[in-house]
Amino acid sequence: MAVIVALFVLALIWIPVSAVSLSCSCHQNWTHVLTTDANGVVTFGSKTDLISAAMTGSDVRIYMRLWVNYYTSVQNLHTVGDNICGQALFHIGKATWRTFQDNAYWWFLNVCTTGSVQMMRYYVGKHVSVSTNVGTYQMKWFVRGSGPTVYKHTSSGTSLSGDVRDVITDVSHGADVRGVVESLAYTTKMDNVQISDTGDLVVGQAVWHVSQKFTPPNIEFQGNDYWWFSNFATDGDHQLSKWKIGEHGHVAWVANEDRQITWYTDTCWQLAYQHDSAGNGLQGSLEMLRSAAESGHRVKLLIGDMSVEPDEVRIRGAHVNAIILSKVLKDSSNIKEFDSEGVWDWSIVTTTGTQTTLRLRVGEAIETTGSRVTTTTAVTWFIDTRPWRKVLAHDEFGTVTSGSKAALTDAVMQGARIRYIMGIDEIGSITIHKADNIDISGADIGAMHVRSVSVEKTPRSTAELRFKTNPYWCFTMAVTTGFVDMSRWTVGEHTDRGHTSRTSAIEWFVNN
Ligand SMILES: *[C@@H]1O[C@H](CO)[C@@H](O)[C@H](O)[C@H]1NC(C)=O
Repeated sequence: MAVIVALFVLALIWIPVSAVSLSCSCHQNWTHVLTTDANGVVTFGSKTDLISAAMTGSDVRIYMRLWVNYYTSVQNLHTVGDNICGQALFHIGKATWRTFQDNAYWWFLNVCTTGSVQMMRYYVGKHVSVSTNVGTYQMKWFVRGSGPTVYKHTSSGTSLSGDVRDVITDVSHGADVRGVVESLAYTTKMDNVQISDTGDLVVGQAVWHVSQKFTPPNIEFQGNDYWWFSNFATDGDHQLSKWKIGEHGHVAWVANEDRQITWYTDTCWQLAYQHDSAGNGLQGSLEMLRSAAESGHRVKLLIGDMSVEPDEVRIRGAHVNAIILSKVLKDSSNIKEFDSEGVWDWSIVTTTGTQTTLRLRVGEAIETTGSRVTTTTAVTWFIDTRPWRKVLAHDEFGTVTSGSKAALTDAVMQGARIRYIMGIDEIGSITIHKADNIDISGADIGAMHVRSVSVEKTPRSTAELRFKTNPYWCFTMAVTTGFVDMSRWTVGEHTDRGHTSRTSAIEWFVNN
């Protein structure tokens, strides 16, 4: 039986590179669908168009005219009658448009098409809310469609349209996955997706959601907040695991529910490289993967039956290191269930075949035996096939060496996603980040990246990286003047590990 399963999985991921066809929709730009003014009145487009795009699997980005020009993505959306609200969670408190506050706090936003923006602040590593306020701001909403519905099932997992095997095929080819849960009026991107070894069940895990309450026509965070981790399964099962923000506190379970879910996939991905557990190439090429990553492309990994996009990519020597943080540990015997302890399941995976995990309980800093395990693994690496354009490169003094700052600012204002590469650092790696949020200030932009944790060289390899002991978050802000601000906080507690800045040459890439 084990042999049959292994063969099945291998057959599943054996995809000839030549079979990849570029669908036209992979060249589709972000579409501006709605503008509301400072009073929340619609001045362009329609809320209905936004809601229908969001509830059919589109990606959503927003612009807000705060005290700065602010651009970010939303991690999940919830409709409220004729309005819709999204959570934008990736932001650490700032002192200026290009520097962090000395005392770091999460700045969670609940943004609604009524024009209302609720801002809630929590100290990093502490279950204490700094403050909460609500304001109304001018806003623009941008969407980009996914493909058509791939699969829709009832709350007991009976197909209403499509076949679960089509979701599995897409995931095996590197696709992004989104779920729309009508009974909750809710949609989210899946941060990681697992296929059962029986080949007939898909479980999407959505990590980035903070507890909230219904306050029509808006949605707001509720106070005494907690992370709301979800495992959504194609048999209708929805498992929740709730842990307080900033401390290791379990929040009592509500009954896990059965959900009717519609699944959407974004198939603008192709295989770049596949290697065995010793790092021997099987398909594609390491050079193709590395050069795609170095030209701004997103990267995704399929490790066994688990597909996940890394939160940070670092290239060291000839190899690619994927740092995976958007993952919560599951029960070892059931892919639909969480481990009851509430544990982050982080890892660094290198194209040498080495994988190192770091498992820490959510809201805690204590490593235990078994927190770190190094193994070797076969991996299939994918790159997105959307067009990424390098629009600006500058040296560490901000002197433009190619492209222009105007081209970058223009793309940001059209809703584009931004990725950027910082030059060689003290551990001999180049770092590739997605901009979690962007400020435009005059001719310059500042891009913040939240999901990074301290890493270091391993003594035994010129390619691999590992998590530091006593790890800290490393929040960074990269600016087109060459300035990089860094704020470091111990993972799981409110302990300052240093706020410093440096300069770096940076290359900027946009995907309209
Ligand atoms: C997408 O945006 C780019 C940059 O503005 C533009 O050159 C291109 O024509 C646009 N493509 C489509 C299909 O609108």
